[in-house]
Amino acid sequence: MRFDRLIKGGNVVTPAGAFRGDIGIAGEKIVALGTDLDDGGAPVIDATGHHVIPGILDVHVHLALPFMGAVSADDYSTGTRAGARGGVTTLIDFAIPYKGDSLSQAVDNWHKRAEGKSLIDYTFHVCITRWDEHKDQIQGMVDRGFTTFKEFMIYESEGWQSDDRAMFGTLEKMKEYGTMLLVHAESSRVLDELIARHHTPELMKMYGARLHPMTRPNFIEAEAIARAVQWSEATGGQLYIVHMSTAEGTEIIRAAQARGVPVIAETCVQYLVLEDSVFAREDGHLYACCPQIKKPRDMERLWKGLKHGEVSVVSTDTCTFTREQKALWKGDWTKIPMGLPGLETLLPLTYTRGVLEGRLTLEEMCTKLSTNPAKVMGLFPRKGAIQVGADADIAIIHPSWRHQVVPSEMETNADWSPYEGWDLAGFSRTTLSRGEVIVDGYKVVGRAGRGKWLPRTFAGLEGTTGETSAMRMSRGPLSPIRVEDLKAAGVA
Ligand code: URP
Ligand code: ZN
Ligand code: ZN
Repeated sequence: MRFDRLIKGGNVVTPAGAFRGDIGIAGEKIVALGTDLDDGGAPVIDATGHHVIPGILDVHVHLALPFMGAVSADDYSTGTRAGARGGVTTLIDFAIPYKGDSLSQAVDNWHKRAEGKSLIDYTFHVCITRWDEHKDQIQGMVDRGFTTFKEFMIYESEGWQSDDRAMFGTLEKMKEYGTMLLVHAESSRVLDELIARHHTPELMKMYGARLHPMTRPNFIEAEAIARAVQWSEATGGQLYIVHMSTAEGTEIIRAAQARGVPVIAETCVQYLVLEDSVFAREDGHLYACCPQIKKPRDMERLWKGLKHGEVSVVSTDTCTFTREQKALWKGDWTKIPMGLPGLETLLPLTYTRGVLEGRLTLEEMCTKLSTNPAKVMGLFPRKGAIQVGADADIAIIHPSWRHQVVPSEMETNADWSPYEGWDLAGFSRTTLSRGEVIVDGYKVVGRAGRGKWLPRTFAGLEGTTGETSAMRMSRGPLSPIRVEDLKAAGVA
């Protein structure tokens, strides 16, 4: 067989297990896996002594997002370069309709942000912010290749908030189309009340950024997750809880999955590695993200949820703000632009704290960072695994070599990092996207604008069957998905 490129001698992680051997690439695809493949004169990448893993999918990213009076500081140029350095080869951003925009206009706007800039492949979740206007536009978005939708239970002041009626109606449509609703689950009315009670000059002076965790007790997330799960159970619509941060939320998901509710949970790496004592630091306001960083018992429960299966995906919720942008808070925690940089450190943090510290195996890490996100977002088998026929999206990492996080050396536009000074293994020595080397010797070498938009025809657990939307439409609405389906799909 003729190859355009070979990766030789690495510890290759595939869905069937890891083996020491070679990957043959022709054009954009993986065409052979084996030992001692003959290069036939094709360029060879030596992966001896390294892990060769599927390219990471970060399925929760906000690039150049106008939010809380600022615009997030990583756009499709810096954000995707940062991702590539961290082995990320696919990202999913959120297209949000502004000022009377339709869903289609929101997606057009987001396409413009990415075009000519993105180094890696991408697509968007479509945000429904005004149910009465947007509900009849959902089918059109499915026809345009978008199969994941998003609703926020908070952010009334941004004009993004959805109520129970919208969530219920959207989930009914998700069931009809075989698509999936992503939900930011926090209980807005009680949250608003707690914020109002604490929003006094005296308390702000006394507690500063600590008021952020103080006004968001765990029940704020837990109640909202329970409510969204209830609507998923009632409608049979596929639900995906984004950035789950609490032990209580994880328990609710476990119980719901056990009784067959089609719900999937994502956590973000910051909830696995940071604890809320950061808010007591001098620069504690920098760490404000939403939901906020929680406590060690939440971190432990989330790791356990990843190991046991109720937490299916790790992402970043990248929403970068610089020190100058974060300074907008001026002592009032409700004004801090919320979000953290993340794309560049997702793999290093999960590898170092997860694999090297014995919380996950290397294979489990690849499942949570690559295979599961690809499956539930309707991108598998094109993305998410090293197997014949898949896009040659690959990261090559050294098993133990560590690099210190120094913000000025990073690709992100952030001038700080929540992980500054941490020694992390798992930065990508070589990243390939569709067969092309975009990171070489830990340096980004790929060309801006080469990333492609990825159309989709399905999402959620149903997507793991490989069924197309045309097949689905021809057989009518789906029966509820059961926990057995989760297991069979390898997502649990
Ligand atoms: O702090 C965050 N997460 N900012 C982005 C908006 C969101 O809720 O995901
Ligand atoms: Zn959110
Ligand atoms: Zn987000």
